[in-house]
Amino acid sequence: MSKKDIDWGNIGFEYVVTDKRYVSNYKDGAWDAGGLTSDDKITISEDAGVLQYSQSCFEGLKAYTTKDGHIVCFRPDLNAQRMYDSAKRLEMPPFPVDRFIDAVHQVVAANADWVPPYGSGATLYIRPYMFASSPVIGVKPADEYQFRIFVTPVGPYFKGGAKPIVVKISDFDRAAPRGTGHIKAGLNYAMSLHAIVTAHAEGFAENIYLDPATRTKIEETGGANIIFVDKDGNLVVPKSDSILPSITRRSIVHVAEKYLGLKVAEREVLLSEVPNFKECGLCGTAAVISPVGKINDHGKEIAFASGMEKMGPVIQKLYDTLTGIQMGSIEAPEGWIHKVE
Ligand code: PLP
Ligand code: COI
Repeated sequence: MSKKDIDWGNIGFEYVVTDKRYVSNYKDGAWDAGGLTSDDKITISEDAGVLQYSQSCFEGLKAYTTKDGHIVCFRPDLNAQRMYDSAKRLEMPPFPVDRFIDAVHQVVAANADWVPPYGSGATLYIRPYMFASSPVIGVKPADEYQFRIFVTPVGPYFKGGAKPIVVKISDFDRAAPRGTGHIKAGLNYAMSLHAIVTAHAEGFAENIYLDPATRTKIEETGGANIIFVDKDGNLVVPKSDSILPSITRRSIVHVAEKYLGLKVAEREVLLSEVPNFKECGLCGTAAVISPVGKINDHGKEIAFASGMEKMGPVIQKLYDTLTGIQMGSIEAPEGWIHKVE
């Protein structure tokens, strides 16, 4: 076994077929024992619930090579719990939390050669997902499901890596009040595709969605939560029932309070107060913390004091501390780091 011959420093956020993936099937009311396979193809009924009524959910987390050469995962227990919650909301049989964590360990260990080296700037993205595999024709939950995990090495989510991006306020809504915005359902992403294609065509890196009820409050982007730094250097984090409870955001809040001694306000954030903030960033597993230089609100530009060249000082400190914890150069809170090998 030896590391794959990849130019780790220059890969983007693209799918690459790796060696092994994990599969477990749900049938007759129970999940089977599950296991690893080399087969990256899936054969299902033309009438599978996922194909007709989009009954699917997924997760995203990462494995890292630490400074001292171990392979670790970051907080997989929180992804396991979030997928459990997603499954329940979609009337799917939840995959047990302990089995999810064990499966993540198995897939990462089996693909150890694909885990990018420490300091390369790349990481191993882990994609657990679940879908309805048996036929349905009336609108109802399927009887059978498949849970899978594959991994793929990735670089930065946004082109340009840590360079600030420009995002727009979207005219589309991401989630309905009392809808599915708080879970990681595939359908949330299907409906965002037209909005992201539109934003890219206009030259923006992402969409900021507003609360659908009043369109006055900041929610999140298509693939990340949003954080702000106010004029006193405190962290301000939008709170809403219809955004995804980002594990990165929850970790950042802890890092800000406990490691950096910052004050954190988790509250509703009005679009009208955004011009008062000094720094802005998008946070998520894929996005890590990506700095935002400008927000375009229907032609009106909100430019942050941190500018378009580099991260602002507070977001830089949060980024350095979070990634330091993930890659083993800063001591992690109890239970955050799971050693795979
Ligand atoms: N919000 C959305 C819509 C996402 O797709 C993601 C990505 O997972 C996040 C937020 C960030 O969540 P996490 O930090 O758990 O990856
Ligand atoms: C993640 O960060 O894991 C996500 O699922 C977001 C997606 C845009 C790749």
